[in-house]
Amino acid sequence: MKKWSAYLVLGLVAFIACKEERVLPDQNAEADFEYIEVETPAGFPAIDYPMENRPTTERIELGRLLFHDARLSRDNTVSCASCHLASHSFADNEAQSVGVDGLRGDRNAPSLANVAYHPYFFMDGGVQTLERQVIAPLDNVLEMDHDIVEVSDELAQDELLNTLAQAAYGRNLDPFVLTRSIAAYERTLLSGDSPYDRYLQGDQFALTAEEKAGMELFFSERTQCGSCHSGFLLTDFSFNNIGLEEEYLDKGRRRVSGDESDNGKFKTPSLRNVALTAPYMHDGSLRTLEEVIDHFNSGGVDHDLKDDRIQQLNLTEEEQSQLKAFLLALTDKSFVTEALTAGN
Ligand code: HEC
Ligand code: HEC
Repeated sequence: MKKWSAYLVLGLVAFIACKEERVLPDQNAEADFEYIEVETPAGFPAIDYPMENRPTTERIELGRLLFHDARLSRDNTVSCASCHLASHSFADNEAQSVGVDGLRGDRNAPSLANVAYHPYFFMDGGVQTLERQVIAPLDNVLEMDHDIVEVSDELAQDELLNTLAQAAYGRNLDPFVLTRSIAAYERTLLSGDSPYDRYLQGDQFALTAEEKAGMELFFSERTQCGSCHSGFLLTDFSFNNIGLEEEYLDKGRRRVSGDESDNGKFKTPSLRNVALTAPYMHDGSLRTLEEVIDHFNSGGVDHDLKDDRIQQLNLTEEEQSQLKAFLLALTDKSFVTEALTAGN
């Protein structure tokens, strides 16, 4: 090696070392936390955790307690769990959930199973991260209607919660801790042990003949269900108008984009645990899976923006039962049992 190039290398090393040193204090602060590996269901990809909110036992436990704490609402009657029930895969069984003062909003509370993988949140995709999502129900006058700073100050007086906040993030319970910990907890709500999953992993007997016939129909060119409900969560997260209403009261994606061509378009929902999440659609207007299948079989109502894939299908009674049987086979019973056992 020539002398000058050796100096160059040395110089570079010094430069890099110098850079490293500058980020060290931050790393030291983080080093106090013992990160844990949260097991993901077989066949699911790794979760992309935000760097500043990787999971630890304390973060998850604090988030779990806060998720169930009605003090988050103005009148101490509503917690996140009031509208996201473990027994319903963390969805609500009412079309419109009850918030403070018995008020109701306009959308149906969706399942929180596997939200760790969602690229954006809400049916219009209006929120980008789980951390930021927490602010929305707190702020919503029909849901919790409470000021996040006030809530945090109040809960910081709770010794158990504040001790956990210190252990989890090295600071008192404040809006940062509140939003981070609830998001950390939500990322543990992983569900992927349905008969369909066991079939995908090679157990030929995990699905009945009827469920298999339904699966083939679901992924067929004829129904095209699987073109929107694709991938391991059975959604591609695209926004679609499926001809539910001639005139949409709720403009869906248009609320966020302001774009006329997004009228009545909603995020394609995951169909995991769909048997537990009735009623269905953004407004909870369809009460049963039969009604949903009826909707798709009829091709829905006319709307300029209705997706081309929503067409009259002419499914026989038998085919409709098969499709329903497949949807029921997307239920992960152990997810609910374990959540209920853990006191969620
Ligand atoms: C009064 C009922 C209610 C309460 C309380 C409530 N939610 Fe929700 N939640 C909803 C509804 C309704 C939606 C759908 C809103 C939308 O899509 O615009 C929703 C959507 C969500 C979503 C987005 C899911 C997705 O698929 O995009 C997350 C995450 C969530 N809630 C978490 C929480 C957390 C955390 C709390 C507590 C801080 C909470 N919710 C409190 C009713 C509620
Ligand atoms: C063009 C994309 C597309 C196709 C094709 C499609 N869906 Fe959907 N599906 C959606 C969207 C978007 C919603 C939510 C609409 C809303 O909330 O208004 C939805 C909602 C549902 C729901 C209700 C889920 C819930 O939690 O509310 C079920 C069940 C469902 N679809 C099953 C099917 C079946 C079965 C087929 C085939 C017969 C099918 N879908 C075809 C996009 C699609």
